[in-house]
Amino acid sequence: MDPRLQRRVQRYGWDKAVGEYEAGWRAQLEPAQSLMLDMVALQPGEHVLDTACGTGLVSFRIVDAVGENGVVVGTDISGEMVETARRLAAERSIDNASFERLDAEDLSLDCDPFDAAVCGLGLMYVPNPVKAVEEMRRLLKPGGRAAAAVWGARAKCGWAEIFPITDARVTSEVCPMFFHLGTGDMLSHCFAEAGCTDIRSERLEMNLVYASDDDALGAAFRGGPVALAYKRFDDATKRAVHTEYLRSIADYRVGEGYEIPGEFVVAVGINPL
Ligand SMILES: C[S@@+](CC[C@H](N)C(=O)[O-])C[C@H]1O[C@@H](n2cnc3c(N)ncnc32)[C@H](O)[C@@H]1O
Repeated sequence: MDPRLQRRVQRYGWDKAVGEYEAGWRAQLEPAQSLMLDMVALQPGEHVLDTACGTGLVSFRIVDAVGENGVVVGTDISGEMVETARRLAAERSIDNASFERLDAEDLSLDCDPFDAAVCGLGLMYVPNPVKAVEEMRRLLKPGGRAAAAVWGARAKCGWAEIFPITDARVTSEVCPMFFHLGTGDMLSHCFAEAGCTDIRSERLEMNLVYASDDDALGAAFRGGPVALAYKRFDDATKRAVHTEYLRSIADYRVGEGYEIPGEFVVAVGINPL
């Protein structure tokens, strides 16, 4: 896919998803975000970058980890995500976190170097993830840590059919690289290519729990990566994709809801320069 088109699809897609994102994904992504934060081992007072920060689910946990003497800068390509994170920071009277609308491949920030930079579940959407990790690394102090969490192998992702089901009804693939970094050692290779050293990575398997058909559909279609395409479907197409998707996750039915398997990969590396 043309990188400019991919960025536009992401930017305006996540603008549409913002209202349902946390309801659909907060609990489901928490274990991967926790592993990433454990691996990056933040200390009180540190300055931390959170790229592709979304509504700030990770950024606000970083605020807790670094304390009042720390600083958090969140960046995201979606203006609605950035506005939501800013609003949440204001509502919570947090004054050491700021948020900017920036492409992960072009982090033109004018600030002191960071102690650590993280990217939670964002690199799969970036046209050139090596460039995005290079940008994280460029903004780190020598010895600073970079960490990222991505979805793991396609075969271990029970909701993977969302993509072909949606792609069959649009002209270009919605997330062409979604499982790329989760395959084999690709995430570690990405960090190495971006110039990081001392790279460690871990895999994490878990179930994504949804209480009902509507919760599962909401996360998949309205609050996630295919939201832009979905919003443009007419009612008949929406009904058809719902039926196909629920059929694709039927094996994971538990009572009225679902326990859908998922896998994540988390990597951390050091900026040697
Ligand atoms: C699944 S959300 C993750 C948000 C947050 N990091 C979290 O863990 O909850 C993916 C985010 O990546 C952002 N994104 C996608 N492509 C991007 C790009 N090229 N540059 C910056 N952010 C991007 C989206 O706007 C969205 O907010």
